[in-house]
Amino acid sequence: MQDAHQPIDLIDCLRRHAALQYDGEGVTQLQHAWQCAQLAHRAGASDALQLAAWLHDVGHLLSGLQGSPTLRGIDDRHEALGAAVLRAPYGAEVSEPVALHVAAKRCLVSTRPGYAQSLSADSVRSLALQGGSMNADECAAFLQRPFARDARRLRVWDDLAKRSDWCFASEEAALSELSALHGRVVAARHAAG
Ligand SMILES: [Fe+2]
Ligand SMILES: [Fe+2]
Repeated sequence: MQDAHQPIDLIDCLRRHAALQYDGEGVTQLQHAWQCAQLAHRAGASDALQLAAWLHDVGHLLSGLQGSPTLRGIDDRHEALGAAVLRAPYGAEVSEPVALHVAAKRCLVSTRPGYAQSLSADSVRSLALQGGSMNADECAAFLQRPFARDARRLRVWDDLAKRSDWCFASEEAALSELSALHGRVVAARHAAG
């Protein structure tokens, strides 16, 4: 288990787990992260939200759990673990959509027709472990939270980023896109003081 208070090289973490199969899905961890970020980019998302898309599941890699924890009835709380390590280097614009991307799924299931049926088998399993669909009051409270809208957009890209027929030109090219984005987000954060 990663200590959220220790600085961590997240790009190196993704590199080390690049070829790891995203259990229960037809993509690797790097493919899933890259596809999610591509969809964010195509949708005109900010650099911060594109970086959140890249790193939204890094908590899975930091949890230290093997295989698909959902098959063993375990919720790895990856959204909280990921957000905890993203907050210090990148700020709330990156960490909060990540923190809320599971809650966004729980809200979308109860508010968007057809959404529940579109979820992958692993996402359906994890939904039950994560508390299931939200009721109307829970959804309303969720939507009041800062970054809830970004989290909902991220969640929709996340669900679409599981295509086995869509891949980057090379692992290094993909990681250098991530590295450049990381640099822009950090520079903008420093420039903003
Ligand atoms: Fe996730
Ligand atoms: Fe994901």
